Amino acid sequence: MRPMLRVLVLHGPNLNLLGNREESVYGTTTLGEINASLSKLGSELGVELDIRQSNHEGELVTWIQEARSKYQGIIINPAAYTHTSIAVRDALSAVDIPAIEVHLSNIHRREEFRRHSYVSGVTLGQISGFGPTGYLLALRGLHEYLSSHGGQSVSGAGSRRDAEIRSH
Ligand code: DQA
Repeated sequence: MRPMLRVLVLHGPNLNLLGNREESVYGTTTLGEINASLSKLGSELGVELDIRQSNHEGELVTWIQEARSKYQGIIINPAAYTHTSIAVRDALSAVDIPAIEVHLSNIHRREEFRRHSYVSGVTLGQISGFGPTGYLLALRGLHEYLSSHGGQSVSGAGSRRDAEIRSH
């Protein structure tokens, strides 16, 4: 039997407020509901999930560093750190675990400062604009990727950003 895949899901700052945070942009689904639907899909796919949220950049960096040898994949919504954090990018690059970047909103059709992501260059792909469904798409995509790559990490930053899904 194949060993169970383990995936780390990281939610960045302010995502703990989902459900009553700028509902016109982020909707009314709470983080708890997103996590519950992720866990359900994880059980269906046979993927064990470790889901965490932090408002602190350093804590996210530490969790990414610790992911080495524990998880085969990472799903991350770095929230505002997407647009500011070289530290989160460097951590993802250092651990070299296939990662998918998720954004609830379509960051490419919002303010100019949201259009640049520091992490995209070191992730497998970005899913942006599908609301909570984006996390499920990420899990399905990562599961498929890891299953067809034998759960191995891929090396060569730059060659890893193979996919991008955006809604328009
Ligand atoms: C976000 C988009 C970011 O620009 C913003 O800072 C967030 C959430 C999203 O999920 O759409 O906090 O990552």
